[in-house]
Amino acid sequence: MDLGLGGKAAFVTGGSQGIGLAIARALVAEGASVVVCGRDEGRLAQCGVPGVQADVTDPEQLGRAVDEAARRLGGLDLVVANAGGSFGGGLLDSTPQEWADTFAINALHAAHAIRTAVPHFERRGGGSALIISSITGWKPGPRSSYAAAKAAEIHLAAALAQELGPRGIRVNALSPGSVEFEGGGWAWVRDNRPEDFARFAREDFPRGRLVTLDEVADTALFVLSSRASGVSGANIRVDAAQDHPSSGRLFP
Ligand SMILES: NC(=O)c1ccc[n+]([C@@H]2O[C@H](COP(=O)([O-])OP(=O)(O)OC[C@H]3O[C@@H](n4cnc5c(N)ncnc54)[C@H](OP(=O)(O)O)[C@@H]3O)[C@@H](O)[C@H]2O)c1
Repeated sequence: MDLGLGGKAAFVTGGSQGIGLAIARALVAEGASVVVCGRDEGRLAQCGVPGVQADVTDPEQLGRAVDEAARRLGGLDLVVANAGGSFGGGLLDSTPQEWADTFAINALHAAHAIRTAVPHFERRGGGSALIISSITGWKPGPRSSYAAAKAAEIHLAAALAQELGPRGIRVNALSPGSVEFEGGGWAWVRDNRPEDFARFAREDFPRGRLVTLDEVADTALFVLSSRASGVSGANIRVDAAQDHPSSGRLFP
């Protein structure tokens, strides 16, 4: 299937490693032009995709990065709000600031990235945005701030699909299950707690292994592409039927 992504211009937040980088590389392989952003300049320089340094939790830096990507690429067709993470643990062992930080790097950054991209999309006659949420966004997990922020991302995609649809803009969420890749948290568990990891893979995944970067990226590209023109406001699970977040006990 030709996804028709050749010649498209894309911006990916948190795209210097992990899932964001996998999506960025897959877009490049389909002939798209891509700019990613991240905080660490060294990591950006080494990731192999053009990058702009920005902390997405600062709306000014994020807005400048979106505009800079559009300037470098001559416009913008696609945005992937991928940056994310969590600060603090459950409600009783985290601070209000940790909750604010967790919402800032997840749902709030996604909203601002898309807000800033809208005028660029409109100049092209429309656009497609994808928010990387999590399995924890649709089934609650142990870190309540992260769970709530990821749930907000799924709802944000659905609400923005309605708000921006009349402007020719599609917005979707993609919710990965636990993804295993070198340098990621699950690779750490695999290498440092091999028996626990093997049990996790066996018991939590019907096929016996975690999700791969390629599985997330391939689905992301389809949803971003015009071949998915009928898909907007959706939450696409890429969890290999994991169906519930990990208990969180596998990490230190
Ligand atoms: N890995 C999983 O199993 C999994 C499962 C479900 C959902 N997800 C979601 O998928 C997304 C990507 O996760 P990942 O595991 O690929 O993450 P990762 O490997 O930790 O990579 C995070 C990327 O985001 C950048 N980043 C982090 N904080 C940033 C900030 N404040 N401003 C700009 N860039 C920032 C990092 O670069 P710098 O550090 O240099 O800024 C890096 O490029 C997240 O939204 C996460 O919640 C992951």
